[in-house]
Amino acid sequence: MKEKIEELKERFKSALALANDEQSLDELRVSFLGKKGVVAELMKGLRDVEDKKTAGQLINNFKTEVENSISDCEKMLEKARIDAQIRGAKKYNPTLKTEDRSGSYHPITLATREVEAIFESMGFTIEDYYEVVDDYKCFEALNIPKHHPARDMQDTYYLDNGQLLKTHTSAAQNAVMRKYGAPLRAIFPGRCFRNESTDACHENTFFQMEGMMIDENISISNLIYFMKTMLSLVFERDIKVRLRPGFFPFVEPGFELDINCLICGGEGCPSCKNSGWLELCPCGMIHPNVLREGGIDTEKYTGFAFGLGLTRLAMMKYGVKDIRTFNSGNLKSLSQFKSL
Ligand code: PHE
Repeated sequence: MKEKIEELKERFKSALALANDEQSLDELRVSFLGKKGVVAELMKGLRDVEDKKTAGQLINNFKTEVENSISDCEKMLEKARIDAQIRGAKKYNPTLKTEDRSGSYHPITLATREVEAIFESMGFTIEDYYEVVDDYKCFEALNIPKHHPARDMQDTYYLDNGQLLKTHTSAAQNAVMRKYGAPLRAIFPGRCFRNESTDACHENTFFQMEGMMIDENISISNLIYFMKTMLSLVFERDIKVRLRPGFFPFVEPGFELDINCLICGGEGCPSCKNSGWLELCPCGMIHPNVLREGGIDTEKYTGFAFGLGLTRLAMMKYGVKDIRTFNSGNLKSLSQFKSL
């Protein structure tokens, strides 16, 4: 019996060395420890043995040895499997140098182009305007005389020559009206600047897209129609909007158009100041004083204007939680938009 077991031990060892996956280990377990396996056969053979006690002990020791070796081997295989998984997983490495050195479009550029294409398809022209403007264009032509309290919200950077960095794309309204007269449909995207303390949802440099439509019989319904159409195309879904009264001296009546925060789904997060809503598009019917200043006949024409927050829109569209990411120049964040 002793020799037989020694021989079986050798057989088991060489079979174990070959078992390099869970399936072959299972097969080995069945052939040695199964009902009709090697150990069971040995037990059967006990009948014909005289010294049953010693032989029984030998068989039991052999059985324990086989069980332990198989379970050790199982543990090793499991560890190897987990190691391989970890090695294979894509890990975020903040110190990794990006190998792909080709440039990519900035997410704001991508969002701008998309909104431009939508308005273009609805008959709007696209205008470009300066970033450095004078007080008249930025404020006075927009029914904001000197010392008007509405200026407080739009403190900006002034140059020695009295010019300033424009605080909103509305600064181009007057020039666009003078260029085309009525009727007109135009959008004008641009970079804007304000003296702001920065946080997750405020920046001193941000992008807006102004839009104007002036024609006979233009009303708030036209405004709501264009805004809803544009927003549902940009977000490729039906999004919730709400209109609140808002005050801007250059529109009457004026509104704040909010959209349901798409980052938190409306539950409240730092990007939406925990309100679940994001101010996206102040708008309203153009004030007659502003139309008149632009040389438009206010007896015949009315119009709407909106100031879409392009930076906010890009945050919502791409799920960017912190507005400061856009101007950070951080290639690791910005290059993620390469595939869009
Ligand atoms: N220019 C305004 C702002 O930046 C937004 C606005 C544009 C409001 C057009 C009404 C109409 O705050």
